[in-house]
Amino acid sequence: MKKNRLSLTICQALNDQMTKEGHAAQIYLSYASWAASEGYDGVANFLFRHAHEERNHMMKFLEYILQRGAKAAISAIPAPPAHPKSIQDCFEKVFQHEVDNTEAIHAIVKMSFEESDWATWHFLQWFVKEQIEEETMVLNQLDKLKIAGGEKASGESLYAFDRDLRNEPDEVVLAEDKTAEKP
Ligand code: FEO
Repeated sequence: MKKNRLSLTICQALNDQMTKEGHAAQIYLSYASWAASEGYDGVANFLFRHAHEERNHMMKFLEYILQRGAKAAISAIPAPPAHPKSIQDCFEKVFQHEVDNTEAIHAIVKMSFEESDWATWHFLQWFVKEQIEEETMVLNQLDKLKIAGGEKASGESLYAFDRDLRNEPDEVVLAEDKTAEKP
């Protein structure tokens, strides 16, 4: 009896996406470490929390692949890119990473639709919603940075920006406790 409920193409795409989420976690970790070493503890805290979120996303893909009786391939995660040049540059880069990730997820949604793999299509809807939230969250920070002066922001406004992020709630829900209503 065939127990694998994923097509080869979908299985490969989900495995690639699992690695991409791991890569995103490394990028956030790397940017967080950079922010911490520059003295921006609030920004670092925000990015460390999101590194954890990305790891949760990676785990969600892993769990789903296994649930469907397919093979999960844990592979090497590419090194994160160079450090950002400024706080503005950091958030612009983070936004671009999120947009790239959204597009990668949409490509698998399309693939699952074309294959009439409704289980995978349904599974991915959580990620479609999550990406909207993540893009909005980063855009909100970019809006605040714009008000603060963007690349020309004064030390004082960057201090306030960092302080606001430091005061944000800290807890990150583990992958296994997440639901569509409480992502
Ligand atoms: Fe896992 Fe930020 O996307």
